[in-house]
Amino acid sequence: MEQFEIAVIPGDGIGKEVVPAAIRVLEAVADIHGGLGFRWTSFPWSCDYYLKHGVMMPEDGIETLKGFHQIFLGAVGMPRLVPDHVSLWGLLIKIRRELHQSINVRPAKLLRGLTSPLRDPGEFDLVVVRENSEGEYSEIGGRMHRGADEMAMQTAVFTRKATERAMHYAFELASRRRKHVTSATKSNGISHSMPFWDDVFQDVAQAHPEIATSKHHIDALAAFFVMKPQMFDVIVASNLFGDILTDLGGAIMGSIGIAPAANLNVERSYPSMFEPVHGSAPDIAGQGIANPLGQIWTGKMMLDFLGFEEMGTLVLKAMEATLASGVKTPDLGGKATTTEVTDEVIAYLRRRA
Ligand SMILES: NC(=O)c1ccc[n+]([C@@H]2O[C@H](COP(=O)([O-])OP(=O)(O)OC[C@H]3O[C@@H](n4cnc5c(N)ncnc54)[C@H](O)[C@@H]3O)[C@@H](O)[C@H]2O)c1
Repeated sequence: MEQFEIAVIPGDGIGKEVVPAAIRVLEAVADIHGGLGFRWTSFPWSCDYYLKHGVMMPEDGIETLKGFHQIFLGAVGMPRLVPDHVSLWGLLIKIRRELHQSINVRPAKLLRGLTSPLRDPGEFDLVVVRENSEGEYSEIGGRMHRGADEMAMQTAVFTRKATERAMHYAFELASRRRKHVTSATKSNGISHSMPFWDDVFQDVAQAHPEIATSKHHIDALAAFFVMKPQMFDVIVASNLFGDILTDLGGAIMGSIGIAPAANLNVERSYPSMFEPVHGSAPDIAGQGIANPLGQIWTGKMMLDFLGFEEMGTLVLKAMEATLASGVKTPDLGGKATTTEVTDEVIAYLRRRA
């Protein structure tokens, strides 16, 4: 019996609704498998916590998380009460950085039973590998003066170590898929960091001669996501470009409520963190209609990372069967609740067991 200790951070808004739903699915998976178990420990770190304590997580929060195998997170943000840069940097980015979760992986696939907003989506199945530790999301910069003379500077940071790490991960992932990596660049407009990005991509590509490559400027690449997403297998992108592309990936699937993500510590020295792409959706929180599939797919990625790919594949099949049966939340044009979608996923898993 393999037992995993999982730290759970539901966070804010719909995070508190979709996380328990996905845990129910993972518990059903463990039950069906028989040799896999989870122990869930929940932490209340969120904007609510910030309003009570003045911090998003306690001082020893990172040390506490180090004691777990993995982290399962919902969504963080209550923009009406806590500024987003405070909630994001005080929890999410802090965890990603301090636990060296240097790669963010976000798949986008047209699942059976989904209707893409694209007129001709084809059968796209792609993964964005986003560099998650530096790039445009850097703490280097500042603001000076006030009023008409006010200025702000933010410095993007690209190191060879982190860039190579993301690219090697992308090539290794592609070697297990359709063997193609696309680089998201902007070396026509950003004249130092992006030519550097291109050089590193070329070096890493030479170490993986079996993988075909292409590169596109991020603006054209975003347009291709809409015009012909079928052309992509694995895409490697900087922190900001990857962030934007993956919301688009969620949108072309039919709803951002489906899109999953994993923040990976590839060295496995600290826990990785699994969280959906979507945020806390304050506009629908508390209504019981949040789509749980993004969080459930995130759970599938955790199963894969823990070495239970067969069970992960079964979860994705259960999601597709649920969508194909028409049990969908309102973001996908259906009438089902979070609980009804979750029940249907679990019922499929039990039927297939
Ligand atoms: N990883 C995270 O924790 C994360 C990610 C993105 C945004 N945020 C935060 O979340 C808050 C709200 O951000 P936002 O409104 O820009 O993005 P959002 O993803 O929360 O919502 C965007 C739109 O998508 C819908 N939506 C999102 N997830 C859904 C789901 N599972 N089911 C059905 N509909 C869903 C929402 O109702 C909303 O209309 C902000 O504070 C933001 O900073 C957090």
